[in-house]
Amino acid sequence: MKHLIDPMDLSVQEINELLDLADDIISHKERYAKVCEGKKLATLFFEPSTRTRLSFEAAMMELGGNVLGFSSADSSSSTKGESVGDTVKVVSCYADIIAMRHPKEGAPYLASLKSDAPIINAGDGGHNHPTQTLTDLLTIRREKGQLSDITIGFCGDLKFGRTVHSLIKALSRYDHIHYVMISPEELEIPEYIREEVFEKKSLSYEQVRTIDEVIGKLDILYMTRVQKERFFNEADYIRLKDTYILDMPKLKAAKEDLSILHPLPRVNEIAVEVDDDPRACYFKQALNGKYVRMALIMKLLGLEA
Ligand code: CP
Repeated sequence: MKHLIDPMDLSVQEINELLDLADDIISHKERYAKVCEGKKLATLFFEPSTRTRLSFEAAMMELGGNVLGFSSADSSSSTKGESVGDTVKVVSCYADIIAMRHPKEGAPYLASLKSDAPIINAGDGGHNHPTQTLTDLLTIRREKGQLSDITIGFCGDLKFGRTVHSLIKALSRYDHIHYVMISPEELEIPEYIREEVFEKKSLSYEQVRTIDEVIGKLDILYMTRVQKERFFNEADYIRLKDTYILDMPKLKAAKEDLSILHPLPRVNEIAVEVDDDPRACYFKQALNGKYVRMALIMKLLGLEA
């Protein structure tokens, strides 16, 4: 049995196999409709979600399996003081595989030590979001045909953005990637990412303050939301929340084949007018998330079509 807690739990070969499987599922959905018959996925979400929880549930349903779970801590016995370890120990008696989101960094890892079923980290605080990373990698590969030789800009909340941290770590194993980090000083990438990923691996990166100064050289622009729920001080959130707004005038200087990604949800950081531009990939990305989660469920349960 294997869990997925951190994107680095997967080797490059395993990632490539998952993406290949997701591509095959997209092309031949009917072949996979009964793969998980008789299996159950539990979604334990101690923090709000739309895409991750529902795409996991849709993924299991499209594989012919069933789902159970809860969508907020309030409706679970954690409100009575039950530990995460006890919760998963019990849920792993009811389900074959568990997707878990928790506001505390490391909670899914703790859960994996107690669970009799594979645990998938569906986002832990500001730490990791490995299935979003698989979603992002699938989207980049489908849009660009490769995961190397790209210039990727990350824009917005690079400090608390777990999707950013996870994707940087995953991409660090592919060749010739230039990272452009676009953020205000207060929301720069954490020290540990700079030191342990960029500097330790001698990756090519730069930090800038505006989209305008770099947009013309980007192949991928990964926009992120400034996350209200991660701020201790509302005044700081209000000051920083609209630092970046990608709109059509800004895109005038961008490449024609730029791909705009966003893990979603968005607030103001991408103007709605951009949705109709062919470079906007974020809704396709959300759909890709369902297919790559189907592939992941199959791999972790050791199932084949
Ligand atoms: N991208 C993502 O994690 O979205 P949700 O918070 O809606 O699951």
